[in-house]
Amino acid sequence: MTASPNEHTADQDEPVATRLSVRTLRLTDFRNYASARLDLDARPVVLVGENGSGKTNLLEAVSLLGPGHGLRGRPYAELARKDGQGGFAIAATVRTRHGEIDIGTGCAASRGDENTGRTVRIAGKDASAGALGEYVKQVFLIPAMDGLFTGGGTDRRRFLDRLVIAIAPGLRSSLSRYERAMRQRNRLFQMREFGASLFEGLEEQMAEAGVAIAAARLDAVERLCALIDERRGSDTQTPFPYAVLSLHGTVEADLAERSATEAEDAFRILLEDGRERDRAAARTLEGPHRSDLLVVHGPKNVPAAMCSSGEQKALLLGLVLTKAELIKTIEGIAPLVLLDEVAAHLDGIRRRGLFDEILRLNVQAWMTGTDKELFSPLGQDAQILDVNRGIITT
Ligand SMILES: Nc1ncnc2c1ncn2[C@@H]1O[C@H](COP(=O)(O)OP(=O)(O)O)[C@@H](O)[C@H]1O
Ligand SMILES: [Mg+2]
Repeated sequence: MTASPNEHTADQDEPVATRLSVRTLRLTDFRNYASARLDLDARPVVLVGENGSGKTNLLEAVSLLGPGHGLRGRPYAELARKDGQGGFAIAATVRTRHGEIDIGTGCAASRGDENTGRTVRIAGKDASAGALGEYVKQVFLIPAMDGLFTGGGTDRRRFLDRLVIAIAPGLRSSLSRYERAMRQRNRLFQMREFGASLFEGLEEQMAEAGVAIAAARLDAVERLCALIDERRGSDTQTPFPYAVLSLHGTVEADLAERSATEAEDAFRILLEDGRERDRAAARTLEGPHRSDLLVVHGPKNVPAAMCSSGEQKALLLGLVLTKAELIKTIEGIAPLVLLDEVAAHLDGIRRRGLFDEILRLNVQAWMTGTDKELFSPLGQDAQILDVNRGIITT
């Protein structure tokens, strides 16, 4: 499958050749794939097959070409094929803003340690998973995210943080510094330590990293809101409702009003004053690890959580596409857009709206579905693959 009929897609000037796109993908012992190979061009990819055939698994493999734990966020041990040798491998050639790059990732046969990380090779050299972010940006939407607006704040915070990391990769290290210090502080409570000097150093680290986290999130939400406003005022209307976003969190609220140094001091004092309360709870009760992204259905002016499930889906899809557009605006190259089981839940007008949006954004979207017919409006603008029990055919 190498034919690319159009040098340019329908309604934009950017050549297809500059799209971030997976060009070859090889899987070995990955979930239900003993071995598979795909040769692709830059067009969006549609995976069609019955339930359980391996569509989401393929999307998951693609998601592991970027930083993070993949779109299911599952432990790596689970990804190795059950009847395989143990371990799995994903190898890809990806057209990136730095040219065509070979990316390899995988895990060796488990030595009984569930926590071993994955190995990553970029252009033949060992690298960290985080380093993939320089090459592969992505946004995704999977059925497990259906409850994003009604569930707890953790998933919404992660949803936001994935975007923040794509445009401000420094967030990753701020988050791990913050979490490490917080874990140590929580451990002091559990060990019934009272020494102020033990807490001071950790709280200082939490304040410094916490303000960096809050600043990166505020900036991302501000840019996202600006883009949503811009789109509302433009002619390119999408069939997806616009979102009104606000970021809620102690440090974020503080930082919106004062300087970073002042916010850092304030958070450090808050931690110090909260020690006894936190001790009673045996964990840190306030901070950027509790922040939340609140989403309102713009046209209806109703909190997303109170909308119908169909409205929530449309809102979330619109938000994911806006994320992709923001990454494109800032990074100059659009991310991969992985949409699992999305098309089937849209009416005909919205489905066409989704396809138009994908072509307008000039992205290699990856979409899955059980019904090939639904994707026919894409015509030659997409490459359609059949997936059948771990075997892929074009
Ligand atoms: N580690 C694994 N080894 C072998 N098979 C697996 C593994 N993990 C998942 N599977 C199987 O892969 C199949 C396809 O899953 P999935 O990609 O989610 O299907 P779908 O096409 O419906 O998205 C499922 O039947 C699942 O049991
Ligand atoms: Mg699936």
